[in-house]
Amino acid sequence: MCGIFGVIGSREVSSLIIDGLRKLEYRGYDSAGLATIQNLNKNQFGELLIRKSQGKLINLSNLIKEKPIQGHLGIGHTRWATHGKPNEKNAHPHIDFTGQIAVVQNGIIENHRDLSKRLKLKGIKFNSETDTEIIPHLLGLEIKNLLDKGLLTNGQTLLSAVQNVLSLLEGTYSIGVIWAKAPDALVVARRQAPLVIGCGEGEYFCASDSTALVGFTRTVLPLEDHEVALLTPLGIELYDENGNRQYREPSLLRGTELFADKKNYRHFMLKEIYEQPETAQLWIDRYMPSGVPAENLVALPISKSSIEKIERIQILACGTSRHAAMVGAYLLEQFAGVPTNVFFASEFRYSPPPLSPNTLTIGVSQSGETADTLAALRMEKQRRDAINDPDFSFHQLGITNRLDSSLARELDHVIDIESGIEIGVAATKTFLGQMLSFYGLTILFASHKHKRSTQEILDFSNELRMVPKQLLDIIKKHDALSKEIARLFVETKDVIFLGRGINYPIALEGALKLKEISYIHAQGYPAGELKHGPIALLDKHVPVISIAIPGVVYEKVISNSQEAKARDARLIGVAPHGPESEMFDELFSIPKVSEWISPLLTVIPLQLFSYHIASHKGLDVDQPRNLAKSVTVE
Ligand code: AGP
Repeated sequence: MCGIFGVIGSREVSSLIIDGLRKLEYRGYDSAGLATIQNLNKNQFGELLIRKSQGKLINLSNLIKEKPIQGHLGIGHTRWATHGKPNEKNAHPHIDFTGQIAVVQNGIIENHRDLSKRLKLKGIKFNSETDTEIIPHLLGLEIKNLLDKGLLTNGQTLLSAVQNVLSLLEGTYSIGVIWAKAPDALVVARRQAPLVIGCGEGEYFCASDSTALVGFTRTVLPLEDHEVALLTPLGIELYDENGNRQYREPSLLRGTELFADKKNYRHFMLKEIYEQPETAQLWIDRYMPSGVPAENLVALPISKSSIEKIERIQILACGTSRHAAMVGAYLLEQFAGVPTNVFFASEFRYSPPPLSPNTLTIGVSQSGETADTLAALRMEKQRRDAINDPDFSFHQLGITNRLDSSLARELDHVIDIESGIEIGVAATKTFLGQMLSFYGLTILFASHKHKRSTQEILDFSNELRMVPKQLLDIIKKHDALSKEIARLFVETKDVIFLGRGINYPIALEGALKLKEISYIHAQGYPAGELKHGPIALLDKHVPVISIAIPGVVYEKVISNSQEAKARDARLIGVAPHGPESEMFDELFSIPKVSEWISPLLTVIPLQLFSYHIASHKGLDVDQPRNLAKSVTVE
C-alpha cells in the first residue's frame, strides 16, 4: 500500500528519497512522486518543487534525471490508488492553494467529502480526486490563521498547524508535511497507519516501513498512534495528541534480516519459496529445541496457567493469514480439543459474536499492519475491557513476521515467526511460519490440557522435526515439474482446487495464490461440496487440482476427484504415490506423512504451480496488479 519516505539533513535528498521509495516498492503501488524544498531564495524562503509520474518508480527516477530537483529536505510517496485513478494528477505529494505546502499521506481520510465541500465554499480549487488533497488546503488556511495571530514563519508554526488540522480529520492515516517557508522542518504524524522515524548523523528520515531505512540508519523511533513529530537537522520533537512533549529512546534495527536481496533468483517469490526449508528449520530450532522434557517441548509466549484457563480460541486474520489460521483451528480443535473459530477480521469488526468467557484472541498478520486485523483486535480489546469481568478479560496473542509492527507493539504476547523479510506480495514462507506457530500452540494446548498422551505428542513433534528435509526434497522435485506443466495452463480461465479437512484451507490458499499472481480465476472448495453446485462448471477447459492425503477423508476425496474426471476435467493430484494416484493426469507427489503434518507440504507444489504459470505469462510476479503487501486501509 502507499509508502512514505522523507528526509531532512544536509545532503541532496532526491536520490535518497528514490532509494527509500525503491525499498517500499514491494508494498504495492501504481504511481509515485516527490517534493523538495530547494535552496533559499532572496526572501530567505525555499521553493517547493514537485515531480510525479504514473506507473513504476523508474518513470519517476527518469523524470528526475531529465528535470533534476534539488534540496536538503523532501518527501516522497508511492501511491496505491483508493480515491481516484492511478494517474499523475492523483499521485502524491499534493500541494495547497498557495503552492507552498506539500503533503504525502498513507491511509484514508474518511470525512474528506465534508471537508472538501467546506473548502470549496471558501473558493479553494482542487486539482485531484484524492482524499489527501484536503490536508494541504486545510494547512494553508490554518497557517494563514496562525501567522495572522502573530506566530513566526517557522517550523514550530508548521507543527502547530498540523496539530490543529489533525483534529479535523477522521480516518486512519500517516502523513509527512513540508512548507517552503520552513525549509528546516519536516512534520510527520500517525493515526493507526505505520510511520517510523530514522535517526542518522545530522539527518532524519521518516518511512512507512523500517525496511526502507536499511542502508540509511539502524536507529529508529516508531511513532505511536496519534503522535506528531517535528524533525529538523538538529533533532526530533515528539508530541502526543494533546500536545504534550514525549521523550522516548530510539531502538536499533536487529540483524541483517531486513536486507532484501534477490540473489540469483528471477523473482523474490521463487527465492522465498526456496527459503522455506530454512524457515522451518529456524522456527524449529528456536521454538522446539531438541533435548527438552516432553512436557516442555515448545517455547512459545503463552504460560501453562493461561492455557489451563482458556476454554475457547478465536482467530482474526485476512487472506493467506486466515488460511494459516484455518489450518490452526483444525489442529487446535481436532488434535488439542479446544473449540476454535476463525473470522475474517474485516467481518468480525462489524459483526462480532457474543462475548464468550475465557477466550484467547489470536491476531495473525505477516506484516502486522493489516488495517482490518488491527481494528478487529482493538475492537475486541475495547469491548472486553468495557465489561470489567475477569472471566471476559482480553487474553491476547499475535502471530507476525514483523516485531516492529503495530500488531507486535499493541499486543502483550507475540510469536515472531522470524521468516526473514518477505518481498513477494504473494505470501509463501510467512504462511509456512504462521502454520508452524499453530503447530506449536497445538502441542502446548494438547499437552497442558491433557488431551493427548505423551506418546502422541512426541510422535506429532517428531514428525514436525522432519518437515525441513521433506520441504527441501519437494521443492527440488516439483519446481521442474510445475515449470513443465505450467505451459499447459497459460490459456486457462478457471481452475478448481479441492481439499478436505485439514487440507481444505490449502485448497483455498492454492486458489488465492493462482488468482493473485497469474490473474486466473480459481476457487477452492471442500471436495464434498463439488456436487452441490461447482460441478456444473466442469468440462475439459476447467482443470481440477485435488489434494488427497491418506487419513480421515482420503477415500472421499478420491471419489470426489473421480467425479471431476468423469466430467472430462484435467485432474492434477497433490498426493502420495500409490495405486489411487494413477487416476491423476499429473501428480505432485508428497511423502507419506500423517494428515496432521500434510498442509506444511501440500502447499508447496501449489505455490510453485502458480509461480510458474505467472512467470511463463511474463507477469509481474512480485508486484501483481492492484495488490499490496501491507494492506493498511480498510
Ligand atoms: C497473500 O498472498 C496476500 N497478499 C494477502 O491475502 C495477505 O495474506 C493479506 O492481505 C493479509 O496480510 P497480512 O498477513 O500482512 O495481515
